[in-house]
Amino acid sequence: MENVLKKYEAVQMGVCYYPEHWDEALWEKDAAKMAETGVKVVRVGEFAWSRMEPTDGVFEFDWLDRAIDLFGRYGLDVVIGTPTHTPPRWLTTKHPDILPVMANGDLYQPGVRGHRCFNSRSLRSYGERLIDRLAQRYSRHPAVIGWQIDNEYGMLDSRGEQAAADFRDWLYRKYGTLERLNREWGTVVWSGEYSEWSEIVPPPASHRNENPSFLLDFARFQWDSVAQFQAWQIAAIRRHCPEHFITHNFHSYPQRLNMTEVGRGLDVAAFDYYPNTSPDKVTTGPYSGALSLDLTRGIKRRNFWIMEQLSGSPGSWFPMWRMPQPGYIRAFAWQAIARGADTVVHFRWRSANIGAEQFWHGLIDHSNVPGRRLKEFADLSAEVNRLAPKLAGTRPLVRAAILHSYEQLEALRIQAQAPGMDYYENIKAYHRALTKLGIGCDVIDAESADGLEAYDLVVAPHLYVLHEETAERLSRYAASGGTLLLTSRTGVKNSENVCVMTPLPGLLTECAGVTVREYDPLGEDVARLDTEEGGQFACSQWADILEPDDRAEVIARYGSEFFAGEAAVTRYPFGQGETYYLGTHPEESYLRQLFTQIAEAKNIPYFPELPMGVQVSLRGGGASGEPAYLFVLNLSREDKEVKLDLRADGRLRHLDGLNSLLGGGRTDRRLKLRPYGVEVLEYRPD
Ligand code: GLA
Repeated sequence: MENVLKKYEAVQMGVCYYPEHWDEALWEKDAAKMAETGVKVVRVGEFAWSRMEPTDGVFEFDWLDRAIDLFGRYGLDVVIGTPTHTPPRWLTTKHPDILPVMANGDLYQPGVRGHRCFNSRSLRSYGERLIDRLAQRYSRHPAVIGWQIDNEYGMLDSRGEQAAADFRDWLYRKYGTLERLNREWGTVVWSGEYSEWSEIVPPPASHRNENPSFLLDFARFQWDSVAQFQAWQIAAIRRHCPEHFITHNFHSYPQRLNMTEVGRGLDVAAFDYYPNTSPDKVTTGPYSGALSLDLTRGIKRRNFWIMEQLSGSPGSWFPMWRMPQPGYIRAFAWQAIARGADTVVHFRWRSANIGAEQFWHGLIDHSNVPGRRLKEFADLSAEVNRLAPKLAGTRPLVRAAILHSYEQLEALRIQAQAPGMDYYENIKAYHRALTKLGIGCDVIDAESADGLEAYDLVVAPHLYVLHEETAERLSRYAASGGTLLLTSRTGVKNSENVCVMTPLPGLLTECAGVTVREYDPLGEDVARLDTEEGGQFACSQWADILEPDDRAEVIARYGSEFFAGEAAVTRYPFGQGETYYLGTHPEESYLRQLFTQIAEAKNIPYFPELPMGVQVSLRGGGASGEPAYLFVLNLSREDKEVKLDLRADGRLRHLDGLNSLLGGGRTDRRLKLRPYGVEVLEYRPD
């Protein structure tokens, strides 16, 4: 076990490989080249059901044995994907209930992938039979270290008969009686009361304006369905492979899936990271990427894997994006490691010559002639392998957290609050403002994350559906000395997605020290926000007109509209801590100013002068006196000069003379980074 654990926590590089796509004569050359390139891990198998079980009950694993043996001979570890993402045609023909019924009523046909209904019983029985055999066969194979369950769950909103029956069961377990369900959901509106359980059917796509309590419960039911679909697969693997780790590759955020809930069954979370190479995304992409990485780390609140990482120009699903320019592959792999990825697996070893994804490029082109990208990847692997012993066991060191919530994501999708007001985009805005100041943060689940006392600052945007337990946890955090930042649209709904009959922010009113007297959904209209020091900023989306408690300090007021002069942002001393309330969505420069003030007041170290596109993160063991590693990444197309000035404890510290682990030598106070340049500096925080 220790051995396997070590491998799963090791900082290393991997690749995705599909032996079933290539002539077997190529395999050995590929394995040899992988080893020579510094690769340590290979992921295989996640779509290969039709080769593992070509017809009902006939299993063929010899080909997979040969591939895995070969990787083992070249010193490569293997992660096997369970192939439930792509049930074979013979199976879907025999059991059409495997195919998901989509929101528009269509049956999602085989041919692309992901044609599997999470609630299908046939998929479960055939899937368990196959996975049981797979797990048994490879439980003792020395090269196999872990498993990936399925592939990129995503939500197809399956609404087939089985899903409908499971939904009714789920509701029955939650509410017990129809009377209670009718009451909690408020179905009296529009004569929507149910008198038989059978009247409850999944919502069709055209019913966007259905009862929001019903819609939110349907989403929660779907999250549970995915978690259960995963649970039977995990059980089948654990029966035979108690020493292997189990993961899943999440993708494309925001994902309509409760990743925290799904992540509970996993040992380690993984993410598929394709930083967008399009010119219109080069500035914003690295910041949303940073959020995706932090969010993935938040799933298990520990380091994670990248199971697919950009290796070439993506295409096939759309006209191709730009080819990653020199340094891009390296820089974004380092960004992932800087934010807590341990193993980074690149997708894919070689571009496919067959099938639908021929233009989603791998490290090697169709010609099989090793080129620039493979060379860059090999150099990167050499660097990673060199630094791995130092980075092993380290994790991002942060003092702030953003609370992210699947409940809010879904509830605010069901009932959009104002034009241009988007939950995930706003999470991005807070995260980006912190990232631009070099303030590392965890992004963790609002509804379940405990241990908040570890953070000096907790940013909790839009807790619109507010559970009592969440409100209590946050109040306790502030009362015991934390700095809590709340925003508009907090405490609006109870757990059943029903508006509360109390002034907002509802259950957090006492902790916030303000009430919302009136609100104006500004949408895309821009209002003015005036700080008490005379600064003027733009704000939009929403305006809460605040009624501050006597002890609350007003730190910004509206400067325009009929509510000019009214309180917009407040700070309230609460217990031993404090609560900020932002009644509007300010432009980024205001957030920057506010976070700077908070960082100063709470002694949170930050970099006042990071240039646009440059990100820093700190990874270490956390013990004082131990070295930590400061990653400085130029994720832009321009040369950047970075002043390594860190503000902490009220003074400016110049981080010069640090030992550079990539470039060699010692750094100057002004670090020059080429486009997509990376530095890893040894640093002793004190
Ligand atoms: C996802 C899948 C891969 C591949 C890539 C590229 O990340 O998991 O199998 O299809 O997308 O499209």
